[in-house]
Amino acid sequence: MSQGTGRPEVEVRGLWKVFGRHPERILTSEWRHKSRSEVQAEMGHVIALRDVSFDVAMGETFVVMGLSGSGKSTLVRCLLRLIEPSEGQVLVDGEDILQYSSSQLTQFRRRKAGMIFQRFALMPHRNIIDNAAFGLELQGVDKRVRLKRGGEVLELVGLAGWECNMPHELSGGMQQRVGLARALAADPEILLMDEPFSALDPLIRCEMQDSLCRLQEQLKKTIIFITHDLDEALKLGDQIAVMRDGAIVQVGTPKEIVTNPRDKYVSEFTKNVRKAAILPVRSIMNMPRITAYASQGPWVALRRICENGDGPVNYKEDPCSEDGTCDTRECKRFSATQLAFVTGDDDARFLGLLTASAAAQAVQQGIKSVKSLLEEPPIVLSPDATIDELMGRVVDYDWRFDRLPVVDGKGRLVGEVSRATVREAAIGLAPGVAVATR
Ligand SMILES: Nc1ncnc2c1ncn2[C@@H]1O[C@H](COP(=O)(O)OP(=O)(O)O)[C@@H](O)[C@H]1O
Ligand SMILES: [Mg+2]
Repeated sequence: MSQGTGRPEVEVRGLWKVFGRHPERILTSEWRHKSRSEVQAEMGHVIALRDVSFDVAMGETFVVMGLSGSGKSTLVRCLLRLIEPSEGQVLVDGEDILQYSSSQLTQFRRRKAGMIFQRFALMPHRNIIDNAAFGLELQGVDKRVRLKRGGEVLELVGLAGWECNMPHELSGGMQQRVGLARALAADPEILLMDEPFSALDPLIRCEMQDSLCRLQEQLKKTIIFITHDLDEALKLGDQIAVMRDGAIVQVGTPKEIVTNPRDKYVSEFTKNVRKAAILPVRSIMNMPRITAYASQGPWVALRRICENGDGPVNYKEDPCSEDGTCDTRECKRFSATQLAFVTGDDDARFLGLLTASAAAQAVQQGIKSVKSLLEEPPIVLSPDATIDELMGRVVDYDWRFDRLPVVDGKGRLVGEVSRATVREAAIGLAPGVAVATR
């Protein structure tokens, strides 16, 4: 489940929380297997967490999603022991924080884990920078250092210039940013966020999600993020845990949750989701159809284009010369969009694209190396980008070249996306259209 190497940063094992006067009675073998409603009706206790286990890797955003009352807030509070769990373990870097003394716990809350709530209570009579640096003040950090750090984190969250304003002068979204800045000031490894954007207007909310994504790319914190909103979960989560009645019913990547929901509860959540928002380019791309190695020269590249191209020139059926070879010196029939993707000889590294007309000209002029003829494609796609991102990038593209290369993080050519692929995806992934995703 965890993506990083080594042990996960947060490991939750068999965590239970029972609200009521005698939780231990509910945790006996007689009661612990009964449903939440049975326990509530017969014993007046609430099972808020039921045997919750999951791992969060370092630098990962782990989203916990579920309907209201499913136990999300209880869970995140238990991770800081703002609520004491009834049973189980919470290991952070291998240490069980449930065994911490109260002073260890204070240190843990101040330095290791920061928490952001739905409505962040700023201190109304203190300015923004003091609010942002408040945690450091509690730690007894010197004022100069505090203000410097406060300025840094305000800049990180996009509030540079607001240092000396008072909280009432800021909008709700900006106040949440101050909350985030405060949590970041102590540079914690772990951020716990309980529906931090739920009270904001949709537009501001979206903006905050984007900011968090950007910030996370830079900071790589371990984030546990609570939400009841699937779109938010899909946008932010590396992993999503779906909770119901205090238990986790499924943990998986956004794609797994959407394309392979474990039960009806999860599929109810995901049934209206736009698949284009989650499925990666990888899932719709084709293998590159026409490729040539750089060392093969323009002649080979040209023959590849002629043999495999589906443009007006069909080398096999309509050769340029009678003996079946394409006399490229004479050939003027290449369409402007015909091209080959050129890669390095042994590592599939994408070097650029070679148009048929450039290759033909090179052959005429006796140029042996294609290197100087290569063009940079107007758009290079990543296999991991979502189809939505793909659509956003090609929307203004004139399809001068009718295929775009898909290049992975190591610079290797792994696929291509044609205009036809984009059209099919746009139709096939429209809301309400079922697609085969497995
Ligand atoms: N202090 C409490 N005493 C009794 N029941 C509680 C208490 N806090 C929460 N609960 C109950 O535990 C369940 C989970 O609540 P909560 O964790 O707040 O859910 P969520 O954050 O998913 O909406 C709910 O049924 C809620 O009523
Ligand atoms: Mg809650």
